[in-house]
Amino acid sequence: MCGIIGVLGTHEVSPLLVESLKRLEYRGYDSAGIATINEGRLDRRRAVGKLVNLSDLLVHEPLPGKAGIGHTRWATHGAATVTNAHPHRSGPVAVVHNGIIENFRELRAELAQAGITPETETDTETVAQLTRLMMDRGMPPREAAVATLAKLEGAFALLWLFDGEDDLMIAARKGSPLAIGHGEGEMFVGSDAIALSPMTDRITYLEEGDYAFITRQGAEIFDHAGRRANRDEARIDLGQTRVEKGGYKHFMAKEIAEQPVVLADALAHYLRGDSLNLPESVDFSGTERLTLVACGTAFYACQTAKYWFEKLAGIPCEIDVASEFRYREPPMPARSTALFVSQSGETADTLAALRYCNEKVDKTIAVVNVPTSTMAREAGIALPIHAGVEVGVASTKAFTCQLLTLGILALKAGLDRGHLSPEDARNHMQALRALPGLMNAGLGIGEKIAELSGQLAEAQDILFLGRGPLYPLAMEGALKLKEISYIHAEGYASGELKHGPIALIERTVPVIVFAPHDGLFDKTVSNMQEVMARHGKVLLVSDAQGLSEASEGTWATLQLPEVLEPWAPILYALPAQLLAYHTAIAKGTDVDQPRNLAKSVTVE
Ligand code: F6R
Repeated sequence: MCGIIGVLGTHEVSPLLVESLKRLEYRGYDSAGIATINEGRLDRRRAVGKLVNLSDLLVHEPLPGKAGIGHTRWATHGAATVTNAHPHRSGPVAVVHNGIIENFRELRAELAQAGITPETETDTETVAQLTRLMMDRGMPPREAAVATLAKLEGAFALLWLFDGEDDLMIAARKGSPLAIGHGEGEMFVGSDAIALSPMTDRITYLEEGDYAFITRQGAEIFDHAGRRANRDEARIDLGQTRVEKGGYKHFMAKEIAEQPVVLADALAHYLRGDSLNLPESVDFSGTERLTLVACGTAFYACQTAKYWFEKLAGIPCEIDVASEFRYREPPMPARSTALFVSQSGETADTLAALRYCNEKVDKTIAVVNVPTSTMAREAGIALPIHAGVEVGVASTKAFTCQLLTLGILALKAGLDRGHLSPEDARNHMQALRALPGLMNAGLGIGEKIAELSGQLAEAQDILFLGRGPLYPLAMEGALKLKEISYIHAEGYASGELKHGPIALIERTVPVIVFAPHDGLFDKTVSNMQEVMARHGKVLLVSDAQGLSEASEGTWATLQLPEVLEPWAPILYALPAQLLAYHTAIAKGTDVDQPRNLAKSVTVE
């Protein structure tokens, strides 16, 4: 899951390439590199680590040229070294790649027979070497790239540049997204429209299996069978692509603080007076079964929504992580509705699961944050979550907006199936409307969390407990903490603790308990007592009533406003996020770009 960019420009392209790579850094930041053609000559610069290292290198070793390609890497094959950094070059060919060439070992063997040996540990290098081999055998660049493509297995977005060819880029996609941007006498290619937004808002998305020959005059696009293909040009909304910290130290802090506003925005889209405002095709009356599929944080949003769909709509509901779902070949009753939740709308496993379900079931719905994403385009129905651009690698506002959108869908399912009375539905809508205000009030706990974070940062292990819809939040809290503070953390259903994990409890293990004063409060508090009886260090997160009943013996408490029972996970996401954020600050880790991670996971 790397980011790729290409420019056939009218001015020096290095600054444009770097600016675009900045926008693609969310896809990986292990290394970065660019290659350009200057006076017909291909040359490249590459640097390990964040993009700033490449920028520094370019200050000392500029790379002139009006045509170029660039790459920001999330390492799959081979460590993050300069040698393994893209663009990869073999003779006159330079290539940048996002994805995995699954048959690269066989291709290496074929190359070895022709006397070409690998110089890097990457799968991508074989693409450059194969193309070079074809050219050595007399093929011109276009033919050589197409012949190379025919040999590749796996998922990829690829971009080629050729020595001596100042007005040619070749792009291809299979499994990984790629967008072509149109300018005035200039052409661009990028992993997404956001990367191209400083240059153009006129975008053509390549479809599965497409390849394109691009010159400054335009793009000739061909489908997987080599037939000329017409792909629409669309105008993208550049407002969707603004990315600024707005005075906050980190994007994550900004995105946590933005939640009252983005939730209010999502509510304004999905509620009209006392009614739900959803496309007509969103109708669950005939749905026999609901399947929700996602990865990571989005998966925890689905797990929370299962409680809502079951309770508010009485609908059989199964959830799965996409990487497991896609290869299980699960039988799907035709009258199923399958829901795919993804911030990026590009996650490879979730996309594969969507494609599987598109073949099998009546209705597929993508709940996404990026409205131009592949999932939004391929699902039967696309529902945006209206979170706005999320830059921090650890998902925050997208999670709560996913929850809200799924909550709205659960209400719709309840009404469609007559499981929820219109009056109850109205009460729930009122409760949802109150959430931005409650979130705003809840943000105040940040200060106290900052005070506790010094002690949390010293822990080796931290446990999170919750019951009912707060159980998935316990797992989300643990995931957030692991991601950005690198402290080992686990989330458990509080009733499950005594079946094993309680063995971990000792004085040094903080246990964070999400327990709003709801119908399950007493049960959760009993489990919390079991922890305290074993000298566990409990941080209880509850409302005024809950804290007045159960604070005794805890290490610390955090108070949130009261919230109508099923919607507590949306509000309680705040302490989960803030605990991770402040602990990471106390540890001095890189909050917005934690090690080993990337924002968009386009490899499986
Ligand atoms: C965690 C996080 C990841 C993503 C996961 C799915 O903070 O951000 O776990 O939730 O990689 O990504 P999307 O939602 O883009 O499909």
